Amino acid sequence: MRYNFDVPVDRSNNLAAKFDERKNKFGREDVIPLWIADMDFMVAQPIMDAIQQRASQGIFGYTSRPVSYFESVCDWQKRRNHWEIDRDLIGFNLGVVPALCTAVREFSEEKDKILFLTPVYSEFFDTVEKWGRIALTSALKEENQHYTVDFQDFEEKLKQGPKMFILCSPHNPVGRVWSREELVKMGELCLKYNVMVISDEIHSDLMLWGKKHIPFASISEAFARNTITCISATKTFNLAGLQASTTIFPNAEVKAKFEGFWQRLDITRNNCFSVVAVEAAYRYGEDWLEQLLRYVEQNILYVKEFCDENIPQIKTYFPESTYLMWLDCRALNLGGDALVNFMVNEANLGLGDGRAFGTDAGFMRMNVACPKATLEKAMNHLKQAVDRLVK
Ligand SMILES: Cc1ncc(COP(=O)(O)O)c(C=O)c1O
Repeated sequence: MRYNFDVPVDRSNNLAAKFDERKNKFGREDVIPLWIADMDFMVAQPIMDAIQQRASQGIFGYTSRPVSYFESVCDWQKRRNHWEIDRDLIGFNLGVVPALCTAVREFSEEKDKILFLTPVYSEFFDTVEKWGRIALTSALKEENQHYTVDFQDFEEKLKQGPKMFILCSPHNPVGRVWSREELVKMGELCLKYNVMVISDEIHSDLMLWGKKHIPFASISEAFARNTITCISATKTFNLAGLQASTTIFPNAEVKAKFEGFWQRLDITRNNCFSVVAVEAAYRYGEDWLEQLLRYVEQNILYVKEFCDENIPQIKTYFPESTYLMWLDCRALNLGGDALVNFMVNEANLGLGDGRAFGTDAGFMRMNVACPKATLEKAMNHLKQAVDRLVK
């Protein structure tokens, strides 16, 4: 089936956080919302069909998870990433952030250091700090608008004795798809310093320009034994409101400790919609995903070319994955709060403030998973605001 991602979707009645929380987040409700990471696109038809079919049954009692649910996860990983997962080592979670919180809570102690590479998804900081641990960061190196790991610094940080390393693969917000060589280097260093790896691979289905994802735990037996992996169909297929993710454990002991936490809360089941939607997504959603990725690539090209031609003060990074673009706005010379104020009140845009990702002022994150017409409007607002600023 052919999907048309140009069709605008009205989210005004959708209880969409991205739209309805604008006043709270940006102080006004008329900004074009290009912040939180969901997409302004309708989901794949087989997912709609599965949910509608389930809704039409009109009975929504306690829901059991069929064996085919996790089989669909394994089949997807095998088909797309050549990763054979042991079905006994898979678990359900309400989301990747809840899974990260659980890993931090169960496998480290208060005041332990937790390492990650910055700039990074802001919840990494929140998760670590909420649970009384200490964020230990290693800044990525930037050369020619390309970010790489500073391995010398990474090793220095490992020497400081963190309990775990939270890997973001691919990396939000800079869009890097780590190469095998980079992953092997990170993994070997973590083994050398006896540091457990939590691999957040939530964006791993959103590969652009023919890039291939390498699941960290698939690299070697030794890596698999040292890693908890978090994946989710909700990011890939725009189902975040259904709250269901998958965690892959290194062994039965780690799984039991991790899941013990959820059992004590009595949260072990999918809800009745996620159980059918996730399986439909993994079994029948690939066609939609491939079309989506081609559309996102065009949106990225559009923003990049628009900035190069019209707003040279804003440098864009070319993401290898995700639908998130990292914008270097330092040449606007606005600093932190003034840049946010400029984006909101002059350009009328609701973007992610780069400082929340643990970097210096001057960066913004833009979500380009929306119809191109929305982006055209956004980029024209931005150009006009910059023209007024620099004239
Ligand atoms: C790297 C990363 N991890 C986790 C999440 C959120 O996961 P969930 O909604 O499953 O808690 C996001 C959302 O943008 C993300 O970018």
